[in-house]
Amino acid sequence: MAEALKLFWVFVFFLSNPVLSQLDEFFYDSFHGAGNNLSLNGVAKIEKNGMLRLTNDVARWFGRGFYPSPIRFKNSSGGKAFSFSTAFAFAIVPQYPTLGGHGLAFAITSTKELPGALPRQYLGLLNATDNGNSTNHVFAVEFDTVQDFEFNDISDNHVGIDLNSMTSYASANASYFSDNSTKEYLNLKGGKTIQAWIDYDGQRDQLNVFLSPHSTKPTSPILSCGVNLSSILKEFMYVGFSASTGLLASSHYVLGWRFKMNGVAESLDLSSLPKLPGPKRNNTPLIIGVSVAATSMIVFAVALAFYLIRKIKNADVIEAWELDIGPHRFSYQELKKATRGFRDKELIGFGGFGKVYKGTLRNSNTQVAVKRISHESKQGMREFVSEIASIGRLRHRNLVQLLGWCRRRGDLLLVYDYMPNGSLDKYLFDTSKSTLSWEQRFKIIKGVASGLLYLHEEWEQTVIHRDIKAGNILLDSELNGRLGDFGLAKLYEHGSNPSTTRVVGTLGYLAPELTRTGKPTRSSDVFAFGALLLEVVCGRRPVEAKALPEELILVDWVWERWREGAILDVVDPRLKGEYDEVEVVVVLKLGLMCSNNSPAVRPSMRQVLRYLEGEVALPEELSAPDAYDKKGGGAGDGFEFEDYVHSYPASSCFEKVSTWSSAVDDVDVESSSVSPLVT
Ligand SMILES: *[C@@H]1O[C@H](CO)[C@@H](O)[C@H](O)[C@H]1NC(C)=O
Ligand SMILES: *[C@@H]1O[C@H](CO)[C@@H](O)[C@H](O)[C@H]1NC(C)=O
Ligand SMILES: *[C@@H]1O[C@H](CO)[C@@H](O)[C@H](O)[C@H]1NC(C)=O
Ligand SMILES: *[C@@H]1O[C@H](CO)[C@@H](O)[C@H](O)[C@H]1NC(C)=O
Ligand SMILES: *[C@@H]1O[C@H](CO)[C@@H](O)[C@H](O)[C@H]1NC(C)=O
Ligand SMILES: *[C@@H]1O[C@H](CO)[C@@H](O)[C@H](O)[C@H]1NC(C)=O
Ligand SMILES: *[C@@H]1O[C@H](CO)[C@@H](O)[C@H](O)[C@H]1NC(C)=O
Repeated sequence: MAEALKLFWVFVFFLSNPVLSQLDEFFYDSFHGAGNNLSLNGVAKIEKNGMLRLTNDVARWFGRGFYPSPIRFKNSSGGKAFSFSTAFAFAIVPQYPTLGGHGLAFAITSTKELPGALPRQYLGLLNATDNGNSTNHVFAVEFDTVQDFEFNDISDNHVGIDLNSMTSYASANASYFSDNSTKEYLNLKGGKTIQAWIDYDGQRDQLNVFLSPHSTKPTSPILSCGVNLSSILKEFMYVGFSASTGLLASSHYVLGWRFKMNGVAESLDLSSLPKLPGPKRNNTPLIIGVSVAATSMIVFAVALAFYLIRKIKNADVIEAWELDIGPHRFSYQELKKATRGFRDKELIGFGGFGKVYKGTLRNSNTQVAVKRISHESKQGMREFVSEIASIGRLRHRNLVQLLGWCRRRGDLLLVYDYMPNGSLDKYLFDTSKSTLSWEQRFKIIKGVASGLLYLHEEWEQTVIHRDIKAGNILLDSELNGRLGDFGLAKLYEHGSNPSTTRVVGTLGYLAPELTRTGKPTRSSDVFAFGALLLEVVCGRRPVEAKALPEELILVDWVWERWREGAILDVVDPRLKGEYDEVEVVVVLKLGLMCSNNSPAVRPSMRQVLRYLEGEVALPEELSAPDAYDKKGGGAGDGFEFEDYVHSYPASSCFEKVSTWSSAVDDVDVESSSVSPLVT
């Protein structure tokens, strides 16, 4: 009896385990019952129908599934890597039809746990510190659905070969060769099952990747490259999958997997694999139908009436166009809950455009910043929201990521990544805050420059920021500078009377030509960036009402000191002389160049970044910025400053909110009604 029972358990054990024909070959046509054997990590889970679900809709998470035992990839630690081959079926189902993140990878790693690895663009494999380090011993083939510029991704739908680094060694847009050998487009995040084959030939150091939405292996690979894995693979390695989500999430599934050393893995028959769940229903809150029994008490009816009145009062009135814009839309209720009803306690700041609240999204437990903007005109809203939705697709490590939006009556709510360290101006000017070291300042400058370059030149369309200033630079947990509020200035343009052009900006950062032409350009952003550079080095605002007359306008003061050969006099005394002189001089000179009154003389952001990175030396001679066209009298006589302020009355139709205590603040200029700054 006992023997029979034992036999029975052995039988069950074999049924619920991957079938092993040899030590170096295994296959899973379903992961069912393998839950205790496949090593799962993060949010990975085996579904009831036998699929391995690496991630779900939770943002910023990763999930991994690894074969539990290590596999021998070499005869000895110094030896040559063996050939291997794998075939697997996967599917990526994004949370919103066209937007998702971040992708999945087939990986061979030296541990199953990968401590310290991050989600998002790191796909749960690496992190910012170890990325690219040859001590990682990470080989991966990524199926990446987000274009990360920092890793030179070619598109948001590509396959890449990663050797110890998320910057792919080789990559190709996702596609496959059909039966007649024509190349067909393949959408990785199309929610359909896709089969991938990865073959490494250890003799010829050749790696081939094939893709197809069908069961048969195409005759040609879509990615083929010569690569020697001998130095990356150790003697024993783990194989498996890792996937991650970012601000937007996707469900990443693996439906079946075969792996073979020194041979060719058989293709999977897609029709015999578990079925993916059907398309997800839109989770827009529906009015809950409540059937009340005829005998219900009046008390209950009254309670219900109260409930409905509250519900109606709080309901979002969603107009048809809003649904066209689709994803990214948060419900008002969700944001209200997240910010605890927009309590003053949750208020973290006033941006140039509205109040900012801190919040925690209930379902993902993510911290966010919610900016509430009131907008008087409804007409502009639609265009603006479309634009916001498109700006939501901008992704760069030096931008504050926009996660989504919500409109309610005349209010627009924008949801951003929460930046724990607040804005740069606090660190520069708030004496109660600790000061930033020069290294930190320089890193922030370089970060902001690269974010701005991305907006100007690296995205599919040029985005002019229009309101660069220390208050709009936010610092993340690692004190990286990130640009916030980009694109927002347009709100006022769409809503305003087309016959007048409004210039939005902040005094001291406004390029002189802007007040004449009213047309923001890349070089007007560069001007503002120049003011920021000087500000960061000097620890002073571009226009300081409390300063000595000759120091009133920062750029003039810096220029004077430069001419006198005493440029280091302007450096922020809070640095206590601890800084790299060469870098400081580069930043100051660059600040002067960017602050030139003539847009043509200002460098482009690409040039700025080259100077900052030290790739190109700055010119020895600088031309005078001629700030504010001093007409003989010099900048410092005070009157000119008064004129300057008074010619730009704050437009009364704006809600005035400001971070600066000084009256000289966010100046909204209506150029048609105001004499230009420079005549
Ligand atoms: C999982 O499968 C491997 C295959 O080699 C086997 O050796 C191991 O005992 C299994 N582990 C469990 C917990 O079933
Ligand atoms: C590994 O060792 C085995 C047995 O000694 C040998 O047959 C095989 O060729 C070796 N493989 C490589 C890649 O050196
Ligand atoms: C990055 O990952 C490595 C291990 O791969 C780990 O030692 C290190 O602590 C991680 N760094 C961070 C900042 O998490
Ligand atoms: C690579 O990592 C090792 C240890 O993890 C570290 O000592 C080394 O400095 C790193 N190399 C680079 C270039 O970061
Ligand atoms: C990949 O696709 C993107 C657009 O989706 C295109 O811009 C890019 O040139 C393609 N790259 C290659 C190498 O085919
Ligand atoms: C090849 O087959 C695909 C469908 O699989 C078809 O759309 C395409 O037109 C065919 N191309 C040629 C050149 O026959
Ligand atoms: C690949 O690297 C291994 C070990 O580093 C070396 O023995 C082998 O010759 C290399 N193969 C080629 C083709 O260079």
